[in-house]
Amino acid sequence: MNLYQVAYHHASTHGVSTAVHIPDSPDPVPDSVLHRLHPEEAKHAKTLRGYRQVQYVGGRIALRRACEQLGVRPPPLLTDDRGAPILPKGVAGSVSHKKTLAIAMVANANDGTLGVDLEEYEPMRLSISSHVLTPSEELTIAELPDERRWIAIVLRFSIKESIYKALDPYVNRYVGFHEAQVEPDLNGGAKVKLNLVNGEGPFTVDAKYKWIAGRLLTSVRIKPLPSTGG
Ligand SMILES: CC(C)(COP(=O)(O)OP(=O)(O)OC[C@H]1O[C@@H](n2cnc3c(N)ncnc32)[C@H](O)[C@@H]1OP(=O)(O)O)[C@@H](O)C(=O)NCCC(=O)NCCS
Repeated sequence: MNLYQVAYHHASTHGVSTAVHIPDSPDPVPDSVLHRLHPEEAKHAKTLRGYRQVQYVGGRIALRRACEQLGVRPPPLLTDDRGAPILPKGVAGSVSHKKTLAIAMVANANDGTLGVDLEEYEPMRLSISSHVLTPSEELTIAELPDERRWIAIVLRFSIKESIYKALDPYVNRYVGFHEAQVEPDLNGGAKVKLNLVNGEGPFTVDAKYKWIAGRLLTSVRIKPLPSTGG
């Protein structure tokens, strides 16, 4: 496996993405890799330690490569005060990382904000369900045969993390897992109903999921709905 090199590129109607191999190790990122970032990104990377540094660097390499797929030569892709990556004007984008892979997706910002999340199938963590699911989602899951429960939970969990990232620019606050109801379909999409506690919106929310090489990739696009007036 070529560390900090592209694992794959992917395209969907939500955007183009690039995945980069990262080491499952807290060792400092070598200077030869840091040099591939914009100097301002590398300066920030040097303030980070252990796995956090590895993930940030992998994510930024992925984000730069994804921007290049759009034909955009990115300026320094820094981080805003809520932790989200700052993209060039006109570009929406999002980053996620898991143990050995970092991924970034970018798209035209005219179609709304973008959130992306990567999850691994294993280990199964059935115990997260009460934290992540609404009571009605829990009822749906309870009706499933045991072997289908984890997939149903991780799909909802990941789509909600993607929702969080896409929603953040509009609401600028922590959004809890119970503020969205997610019903995945069998075609890589999901019906999403937001129940935002502060009543923000309305928004259109478009969610997608795909299994790529044993990992779940979810993405969400969010756009404010035009006000109906009155
Ligand atoms: C912020 C959060 C979604 C990040 O997810 P995670 O699984 O911990 O980590 P991931 O690797 O998937 O994502 C990390 C990336 O998220 C992005 N990110 C962090 N905060 C963000 C924010 N407020 N808005 C958008 N993107 C954000 C960053 O790009 C970060 O990577 P980077 O620092 O290297 O650039 C998660 O920590 C969290 O707080 N979740 C609870 C809230 C939630 O999901 N609610 C559901 C609402 S329906």
